[in-house]
Amino acid sequence: MASKRASSGDEQQKLSPSGLPVRQIPGSYGVPFFSPLRDRLDYYYFQGAEEYFRSRIARHGGATVLRVNMPPGPFLSGDSRVVALLDARSFRVLLDDSRVDKAGTLDGTYMPSLALFGGHRPLAFLDGADPRHAALKRVAIRLAAARMCHVAPEFGAALAATLEGVEADLAASGAAEFNKHNMRHMLDFTCAALFGGAPPSKVLGDGAAAKAYKWLAFQLHPLASKAIKPWPLEDLLLHTFRLPPLLVRRDYAELTAYFADAAAGVLDDAEKADPGAIPRDELLHNLVFLAIFNAYGGYKIFLPHLVKWLARGGPELHARLAGEVRAVVPAGGTITLAAVERMPLVKSVVWETLRVNPPVEFQYGRSREDTVVESHDAAYEVRRGEMLFGYQPLATRDERVFHRGREFVPDRFAACSDDERRRLLGHVVWSNGPETGEAAEGNKQCPGKDAVVAVGRLMVAELFRRYDTFAASVEENPVEPVVTFTSLTKAAVAAGHGDGGKA
Ligand code: HEM
Repeated sequence: MASKRASSGDEQQKLSPSGLPVRQIPGSYGVPFFSPLRDRLDYYYFQGAEEYFRSRIARHGGATVLRVNMPPGPFLSGDSRVVALLDARSFRVLLDDSRVDKAGTLDGTYMPSLALFGGHRPLAFLDGADPRHAALKRVAIRLAAARMCHVAPEFGAALAATLEGVEADLAASGAAEFNKHNMRHMLDFTCAALFGGAPPSKVLGDGAAAKAYKWLAFQLHPLASKAIKPWPLEDLLLHTFRLPPLLVRRDYAELTAYFADAAAGVLDDAEKADPGAIPRDELLHNLVFLAIFNAYGGYKIFLPHLVKWLARGGPELHARLAGEVRAVVPAGGTITLAAVERMPLVKSVVWETLRVNPPVEFQYGRSREDTVVESHDAAYEVRRGEMLFGYQPLATRDERVFHRGREFVPDRFAACSDDERRRLLGHVVWSNGPETGEAAEGNKQCPGKDAVVAVGRLMVAELFRRYDTFAASVEENPVEPVVTFTSLTKAAVAAGHGDGGKA
């Protein structure tokens, strides 16, 4: 994108293609080593992510394109310097594959050891223009489409098991942590929905989810915080050095052996469809990454946020949801994808959750060329090779796009015209692309997008088919909120007597 000039008297003001004044990007990276270290402590401990960005926006007169350091910093990041895009308009550059190179940028300013992935670089770490990306993405898109019909029945079974566990804990102690049960059963769901066959908990035993979680932790520890006390110890252990992949090698080998068996049909089909495109071993490690990191890791964060917003919605929202769900699915009926399609409030609550709490909050990419990035009020020159970074919650809560954007509005996407809904959904970008877009070989959009939205809808519908209302406490944490049910009121009919029943 080139810039032009407008003259006013003697002064020449550079203008962006849409006529915005071109300014220098405000902010600075400070003193090498020390400033990235100090900024890391602000980010994780003294301010938290959102305040880290909001305070810097305020310091620079409301500018939403800024130079900042991004953690983890020394010694994990080679270079902490990024140009942060913190509004809905500038953020869109990160979704434009012609403008950003996404090779190795999935985790931001550091790259996990390839020893964690059998020595291969998984699809999500490849740029959209890389020919290997196209070959691997083809497999992912085909797999997601072919298995869509398994999502509702498999999720129904997993959610039934989750709620059984929740009800038992409630009966025993008066409180039930949702995340604990979700973590266990969503791994089984993810694998059964994608590959069929025996789920990991049957093949690897009760520790299957813990093995998957450990492997995720070895990749993501530089981004985690508030997991270990006291914080100086945590900062030293999680943010300074890579945890040695050797310590998770056995768990990963067991998980890989499980997938070699469960996904054998997918591996065979891919070899037949695209002979020689990707060696079987590389594809296998990609499927492990797809299932555990992309899919399971995503659900592990998304569903607690969904339950959190439902809990905060209270009995009035619950009554409206229950009314909508039960009008479409009569008592004893099965909830299908076609049924939830006819539930506008359920659909709206799910999109609103993905808007307010995009489960993956960070996006990165290197500028392919010298370019001009436009925010709402100004434009900024970025040099080729600079790392662009977006904190998605600030983009998708931008009040210049969404009225009352910082609030959770349950019927935002139901109480509007079809045209307005489409316009708004164009700015819901949790899947690394607009909700109105689709994953393709040449882009970096999530191929599981439709399955994720479907799972969210099935979850809300099933909750309010079973229960009239519920209460839960929420503890906000850096990665996922911890949601603890404190009561569940069974639906009058489902409870088998006239006045409902408490679980
Ligand atoms: C709640 C669940 C999920 C969330 C939040 C999620 C989110 C995302 C995001 C944000 C990206 C882009 C990452 C980036 O480059 O910055 C992505 C990529 C990807 N997702 Fe999902 N995803 C979820 C579920 C799934 C499922 C069920 C699948 C299974 C097909 C899947 C497969 C992938 C793959 C293969 C990529 C890499 C795409 C590429 O590099 O072109 N995801 N996902």
